[in-house]
Amino acid sequence: MTNRIEIVQPDDWHLHLRDGDMLSSVVGASAQHFRRAIIMPNLVPPVVTQADAQNYASRIEAATKQAIDSNMLHADTRFTPLMTLYLTDESDATDIVSASKAGVIKAVKLYPAGATTNSASGVTDIDKVMPVLEAMAEHNIVLCMHGEITRSDVDIFDREKGFIDEVLAPLRERLPELRIVLEHVTTADGVEFVQSQASNTAATMTPHHLLLNRNNMLVGGIRPHYYCLPILKREEHRQVLLDAALSGDKRFFLGTDSAPHTANTKEAPCGCAGVFNAPNTMSTLAQLFDDADALSMLEGFTSRNGPNFYQLPINDSTMTLEKSEQPVSFPESIQVGAEKVVVFDPAQPLFWRVVEVA
Ligand code: DOR
Ligand code: ZN
Repeated sequence: MTNRIEIVQPDDWHLHLRDGDMLSSVVGASAQHFRRAIIMPNLVPPVVTQADAQNYASRIEAATKQAIDSNMLHADTRFTPLMTLYLTDESDATDIVSASKAGVIKAVKLYPAGATTNSASGVTDIDKVMPVLEAMAEHNIVLCMHGEITRSDVDIFDREKGFIDEVLAPLRERLPELRIVLEHVTTADGVEFVQSQASNTAATMTPHHLLLNRNNMLVGGIRPHYYCLPILKREEHRQVLLDAALSGDKRFFLGTDSAPHTANTKEAPCGCAGVFNAPNTMSTLAQLFDDADALSMLEGFTSRNGPNFYQLPINDSTMTLEKSEQPVSFPESIQVGAEKVVVFDPAQPLFWRVVEVA
């Protein structure tokens, strides 16, 4: 029985760090495990210009340094935020290309307007951003997509499939060169679409969509801390996701979508979407891969396939994980000022923990 593994240090290819006090409180949970992270731009107001991205990166770096200085993080911690810009109907192709050429951004994020948290400034019609997408294809800039359509007549469980049929598949045909990530894929339809495409279409997967189905959220009481977007799906979808993650297919890789909200805003009549999973993502994944007898596939999913797609080097550091006899315990929540952010509950014991990053 394997009870210790060493892998290339992972990266997180989809992360929400927020700003201000929240940023200061959550950045350590990601920086202690992940060498790099693609940082989502859905702040209020959103990160739209090269200057916005530069300023936000500086705030993340300052928060990381502060966490090191206050001994929340190991002194040797290295954490690089990979910035993104938020695509709007008015986005300026010249600024996006210049931000990419300057190395300030690694991707551009498309939120369909109204799809999720802070998406009000998102794209209302893909045709409006075609000139920007053409420039991105020409300059090899990655497009990250929140893949859900938002029309009110479309059932929430069918929104990913609707997006693939109505937006993604036609776009894929119009711009075959564009590098696209279908973020936080949740359905068999999404996985099968990516599998049917060339290597410049990829998908990130979250630990919660790999581990849980919609019953976990809705049977025996409604659990607001499992509410996220795209919403948890049926078990048969989860199985397809897990098979793809375990398969070693380079087009699938980890994006935690760790998305902190304070408990009072989630445990509310109209609760916010988002799961704060950064503290236990690596334990969750090691457990899942081990349970499937596929620990040897973990490194590809967390540490190799992402850099391969983003055309970046793999990390020169390693992470060691160990399996204990007793379940590992995690704090139930972290403090953010006077409020708490509840940590993802994997709903099953986890025996793996990170013992070293070096
Ligand atoms: O659950 C989610 N939370 N899905 C998203 O797409 C956004 C995120 C957030 O920012 O809270
Ligand atoms: Zn997200």
